[in-house]
Parts: sequence; C-alpha cells; structure tokens
Amino acid sequence: MPLPFIHWPSDAAPRIGFGADYNPEQWSREVWAEDIQLMKEAGVNLVSVGIFSWGLIEVRDGEFDFSWLHEVLDLLHAHGIAVDLATATASPPQWLIEKHPEILPVDKRGLTADNSSRQHWRPTSPVFRKYALRLVEAMATEFAEHPALALWHVNNELGCHNTYDYSPDALAHFRQWLNTKYGSLEKLNFAWGTHFWSQKYSSWEQIQLPQNPMTFGNPTQTIDFKRFCSDVLRDYLDTEMAVLKRITPDIPVTTNFMVMWTYDGADYASWADHVDVVSNDHYLHPGPQSWIEQSFSASHTRGIAGGKNWILMEHSTSQVSWQPVNYAKLPGQLERDSGTHFAHGADAICFFQWRQSSAGAEKFHSALVPHTGKQSQIWPEVVGLGEKLSSLSHLAGATVEQAKIAIIFDQDSYWALANDSVPSQAVKYHEHALGWYRAFVERGHSVDVITSQTPLESYEVVVTPSLYMVNDELAQRLTSYAEQGGLLVGTFLTGIADENDHIAPSVYPARLGNLFGAQTTDWMPLAPEETIILESGLTAHTWSENIVVSTGKVIDTYPNGKPALVETENTLYVSTILDTASLRQLVDRIALKKSIAPALTLAEGHRAELRVKVTADGSRYGVLINHDEGPVSVGNHHISEPGFHVVEL
Ligand code: GLA
Ligand code: GLA
Ligand code: GLA
Repeated sequence: MPLPFIHWPSDAAPRIGFGADYNPEQWSREVWAEDIQLMKEAGVNLVSVGIFSWGLIEVRDGEFDFSWLHEVLDLLHAHGIAVDLATATASPPQWLIEKHPEILPVDKRGLTADNSSRQHWRPTSPVFRKYALRLVEAMATEFAEHPALALWHVNNELGCHNTYDYSPDALAHFRQWLNTKYGSLEKLNFAWGTHFWSQKYSSWEQIQLPQNPMTFGNPTQTIDFKRFCSDVLRDYLDTEMAVLKRITPDIPVTTNFMVMWTYDGADYASWADHVDVVSNDHYLHPGPQSWIEQSFSASHTRGIAGGKNWILMEHSTSQVSWQPVNYAKLPGQLERDSGTHFAHGADAICFFQWRQSSAGAEKFHSALVPHTGKQSQIWPEVVGLGEKLSSLSHLAGATVEQAKIAIIFDQDSYWALANDSVPSQAVKYHEHALGWYRAFVERGHSVDVITSQTPLESYEVVVTPSLYMVNDELAQRLTSYAEQGGLLVGTFLTGIADENDHIAPSVYPARLGNLFGAQTTDWMPLAPEETIILESGLTAHTWSENIVVSTGKVIDTYPNGKPALVETENTLYVSTILDTASLRQLVDRIALKKSIAPALTLAEGHRAELRVKVTADGSRYGVLINHDEGPVSVGNHHISEPGFHVVEL
C-alpha cells in the first residue's frame, strides 16, 4: 500500500497543502494565538514545526521538555492545521557541543566550525548520530499518536552547510566507502588513474580527502569525494528514517531537498527512493534567467521524484536575507512563483517562514507575516494565494501529464565538468541544459527535466546537453532509444567519459560510437566573448569542433565550411552552444521533425509556460503561468492577464 502523500486527518476533504515553517519558540503565547487567527485568515493548512528546536526540547543531556511543543501541536490541531513535524536534529544544542566538540565539522582550510550558527555537525560523526537518533526516538515516541502529525521532516536541508566535511571522521569513512566501492587498491588505482603523477597508493591509509592539492587535484578522486558526501548524507537520512518507521510506520517521511542552481552537493536521483514523498526548497536568484531556472528546478524535482507529485517545502514570499542584494518580489510574483511549482507537480506550496523573526540571522528574510504585518503588500497576496489554492482542491493528487520532450540532467556529468582541469571552464553544464530548456519553453513546449536513470522510451525527443559521463548501461539505453525511433539530440561533450572519468583513445564520443553519424576529431573551445555565425545564420559561442561525418547529413556548417550540426533519421548532433534566438529556431526544427505541436502559441519574447494536470477521473486541466501581460491561448481559452491560471481543457 503506498503511503498517503500527507497523512491529513481522516475527515479532511482533498486539499492542496499551503503553509510555512512555523517557529513559535521565537514568540510568546499571545503571539501564538494571533498566529492561529492569521493562519485561518490565510487558509494555511500545513506547517513545519520544530526544525531548529533541539536545544529547547532536550534542554539538558537526556532531559526532555515536550510540554511547549504539545501545546503548539494541540493548538494547531484544534484549528485544523496539520503538522509536518521535524525530528529537530538540524542544529545541535550548546550542551552537546560543550560535551562533544568532536562533532563539529572541519572546513577545507582545516578550520573547525564554531557553535554560533546552525548545522554544525559532521555527517559521519558516530557521536552526533548517537545523540541525534536518541532525540528522533524520543520525538517519535512522544508524538506518535498526536492527531496533528501528518508528515515527518527529517533534519533539514541535509548538507546545506555541512556537505563537505574534512574531519578525521570523514576521512575514515571515505576510506571505508572507497574500500566498499572498489574492493581492492588495484581497482582504485585503476579508476583514479594513479599512474599519472606518481599517485599510486599501496595502502588505504595513504588516501586523503581532496582538501589541499598542490595544483590540479585528481579529478576522479574529487568526483568520488562528492559521491561519497552525497551517500553519507543519504545514509544519515536512512538512519533517522529507520527509527521513524519502527515507531510510526503509517506516517510518511520526507526531507527537504535543494534542487536548485546554487547547490551541487547531492545526487538526489539516488535519494528519492529513500523518502516516502520528495520535498524541495527553492529560492530565486535574481536576474533575467530566474523565471526559467525556477521552472527548470521544478521540472527537475518532478524528474527526481520519478514523475510523482512532491511538496514545495520552502520558497519565499519576497526577499531572502542571504544574497548580496535581497530583492523584493514584484506584485503578483508570489502567486506566479507558487504556480510554477504547482504546475510541475507540487501538491503543497509552503514557505520559509510563517512569521518574520525579530532577532537572529534571518530577521530580514521575508515571511507570510512580515514585521509590518497586514500593512505589508505581502499579506493580501498571501491571503489571495490561500484562496486560490483552496479553489483548486479538485486538483489535489492530479498527475502532471508527461511531456513529449525530455532533457537529461545528470549529477555525475555536472560534477565531472565542475572539475578545474576541463577543456573550457566557460562550459557551464547547468547553464547549457537551462539554455535548451528555455528555448523549448519559449516556443510554448512543456519539457520534463529527467535524470540519467529515467526511462526514455515514452519521449519523442530526448536532449542530452553535454552528457559527459556515460556508463555502459546508459550508453546502451541512449543507443536503443535512438535505434527504436526516438529522436536523440546530443550536444558536444556528450558520451565522452566512463563512470571513472576515463576517456578512450578514439574519436569522440567513444562511449556512443557512431550513433550520431558523425564523430569528432578535435575540440576547439572559443574565447568567452567570441561568437561565430554558422552558414544558416545561427549564432554560436563557447565551443566548436572538427567533425568527420559518416552516415549523417550536415545541416549547418562553421564559417570554414566544416560541419557544425549533423542529423540522422533518429539523432541530431549539435557541436556548439547556440544563442537563445538561434536555439529557438533549432527547437522548431526538432519539434517539426517529430510533429510536436507547442502547447502554447507565444509571441516572440513573451514568457509563459503550461503544464497539463490530469485528475483521477481523467479530466484535464491546463496550468498556465503567464509571466508577462499579453495574449496566450490554451485550448479555447484566451488569457491576457499575467499570473497563475488554471483552465479546464
Ligand atoms: C608543465 C609541467 C608538465 C605539464 C605541463 C602542462 O610544463 O612540467 O608536467 O604539466 O605543464 O602544460
Ligand atoms: C552513482 C550514485 C551515487 C554513488 C555513485 C558511486 O553515481 O548515484 O549515489 O553511489 O554512483 O559511484
Ligand atoms: C533554507 C533553510 C531555512 C531558511 C531558508 C532561508 O531553505 O532551510 O531554514 O534558512 O533557507 O532562505
């Protein structure tokens, strides 16, 4: 029996979740009473409680005070608000640091973290785990029967600050992880290519963390270290999960991922099966790409969740407090941003945080209830969003219709191309993938951002922007996808290295042979500001190469007459990066080849996106995010207003 998405009270009508992190420990009881009134006014039905409360729950070593938390949960429950209850392990209390300073992480410079912030714990520390799991056990036992408990929230943003720890604990675990992975030093030496620069290891104790290399470090070691750090955090998740499942087997468990531009710490594709429901936090980075990056991240989160619905655990009503300039959201943006996540399968829309803090490092971070309360322009927008989501209850649990076009985003390729010893640091893996996503969306298409493990067969088009690292199994799947009639669009640097980051002495892409009907003999990265005009007039930048064409057909050439774009019946090879306008033209050609009609017809430069949701009874609804003012047609509906619109199709 699959666990329910959120363990709502049994008498609750279907609903979209709406709420925030709620930190009542920062406020008096009079404020709690006002909070409840305001939550009712806004239509809040789900709050995350206790995330940073360890020190206020376990006040001294082994001495628990659950009374205030009971009061909070009782109050919320009395008003029909469900609780995503944190295990409270995110920020270790002072008594624990005092007693066991050896749980503090060590940074790349070898400096130990202090006790003045949060998440100051080593993911591999057995001492931390012992104390944290005792707290999880106590929390689960205490609240197992509480009727407000709808979901468990393991820790918080695992690895947000402590992804890379260089402590002796981390080193010991890294050696063990390598031993388990490789089984012998011979295999490790081969994988890491240690005949290079005399790096060969003759004992496990010689292996260090990639902390302070004299010059360029061993690239495979660096990738393995990132894989290790991701696995360690996931293993920590598993340990909390095991306690929760033992005590409350019927309550679903999540932990909030950070699928976004700025975070490269975890291979979430390998985490998704370790939670009952995927949840994600997303914060905008200002700039012209922010609207499309948000959409990309939401689509990617759904890809990681295997196409299932997920929870938007955090985003912001307006400014954050950790960017150089913390820009406010524009009027209407709060609803559009929420709508973007909803469109891509978020069945709960939550924020950090409910009430803006008076003290501490996040007192300038926006909230549902700002310092200025109802006088802020945020409050009516919050109430409006609550009404909107409540009017969409009939879409709770509706699934997002699979797109016809997919883009593969692969964490190993991201890590490998993030190394310092690569052909061009101007090639940004994420931006390259985002460019493709943007071009399709700007042409009115819906796109699934999928992982390298996602089945490909049901897609008409699969794009692999610089899918650099391709193991045998993936090579096989990409090949059979193209052979069986899919359209595989590969770009430069696709299929170059195996999972050890080794490159075969052969024409590129050795991992995929002659799949593209053309192979590359030489790479010629361009200067960062250089652009070249292809024969057709398309503008290219960042990368160029020498291609030898066999069975393919050249569809565009470099100024020197050499091939730039090559197609076969089932593939297209793009040997450079095209600027946005050029890529939109290429995307039209790709869609035409597979007869894919855009979901929306858009004027040039108009920003809008659509995903279709299907309810259990088969009804189809278009979720339209119109970012600009201007006409967009969805089925028979013509919409000009900017905003988050839902129409029956
Ligand atoms: C130096 C070193 C070589 C090699 C080259 C690469 O010259 O002596 O070992 O690393 O740089 O440019
Ligand atoms: C894959 C997995 C990672 C890690 C590595 C180990 O990339 O997704 O979690 O296990 O393999 O090589
Ligand atoms: C993260 C954390 C929250 C809060 C927000 C602020 O997402 O999980 O506790 O710090 O950032 O943007």
